Amino acid sequence: MKKDFLAVSDYSPKELQEMLDLAIDLKTEHFSGGNKPLFKGKVLAMIFQKPSLRTRMSFDMAMRHLDGDALYLSPAEIGLGQRESIADIARVLSGYVDAIMARVFDHAHVVELAKWSSIPVINGLSDYNHPCQAMADALTIIEKFGSMKGLNVTFVGDGNNVAVSLLHICTKLGANFTLACPEGYDMLPSAIEIGKKFAAESGSKISFTRDPYAAVEKAHVIYTDTWTSMGQEAETEKRKAVFPPYQVNQKLVDEADKDVIVMHCLPAHRGQELTDEVADGPHSVIFPQAHNRLHAQKAILVKLLA
Ligand code: CP
Ligand code: NVA
Repeated sequence: MKKDFLAVSDYSPKELQEMLDLAIDLKTEHFSGGNKPLFKGKVLAMIFQKPSLRTRMSFDMAMRHLDGDALYLSPAEIGLGQRESIADIARVLSGYVDAIMARVFDHAHVVELAKWSSIPVINGLSDYNHPCQAMADALTIIEKFGSMKGLNVTFVGDGNNVAVSLLHICTKLGANFTLACPEGYDMLPSAIEIGKKFAAESGSKISFTRDPYAAVEKAHVIYTDTWTSMGQEAETEKRKAVFPPYQVNQKLVDEADKDVIVMHCLPAHRGQELTDEVADGPHSVIFPQAHNRLHAQKAILVKLLA
């Protein structure tokens, strides 16, 4: 196991599958009397440069369920790279706590934290990727379909951080991945290249289209995310004009496999990327998916810390 969890692309399919199997075991254990006190006396520092509900709560609760603790550091609190250098923060925290989870703007900052800390660092979302989300997504898909192998996973919307981690976990674990996005909102070419390599290794396929209807044909999973990610607020109006054809609504869902599941990392902007009808409809798994953050992250923490 590596020291840090910064990207699913850093892990082999076998390691990812082991973490997901452990997540299922920890989830079962949690619902049959509670987890073992594996983290007694252990503390996770949680650094946030952006807001959060799921990441903050699920990491905090994951630590508590295993008898550990978590400390929240707000954006204003430590001024990552402003009040103090990232290298110094990493070395100071390494003497106080047992692991760091960080949500940052610039992906290079979480890499820098990991470089300088002697304790594990977990990426709780950067502008590049969202690996903890991808683990919860994979767990949710596996619970529904048994495996990711051979499934068709379609992401409709911005080729953003969530899409990057989804592409990487899909291609690592043998699912086909399609992205339907408007021109100008494509996924980073370097992330696509990484996905292509994994797809060649696992035998899965990757495709890209501008047509959301073509993209969801035969889809087992339709995934969407906000049109405007945190940090892009100045572009909100511009994006609102471009993205409506990529809304996940009932008409689009009707084009997919009859057993399709609809996923969203949340927070959702209902009426924009996802309609209420779909979010609250029979295909939606958005709440079990959010709850699986807790179980997937417990597995990540146990692998890194226990
Ligand atoms: N999906 C997710 O990471 O949610 P938060 O931004 O609320 O943590
Ligand atoms: N793409 C979104 C995900 C939020 C969990 C963002 O970066 O804001």
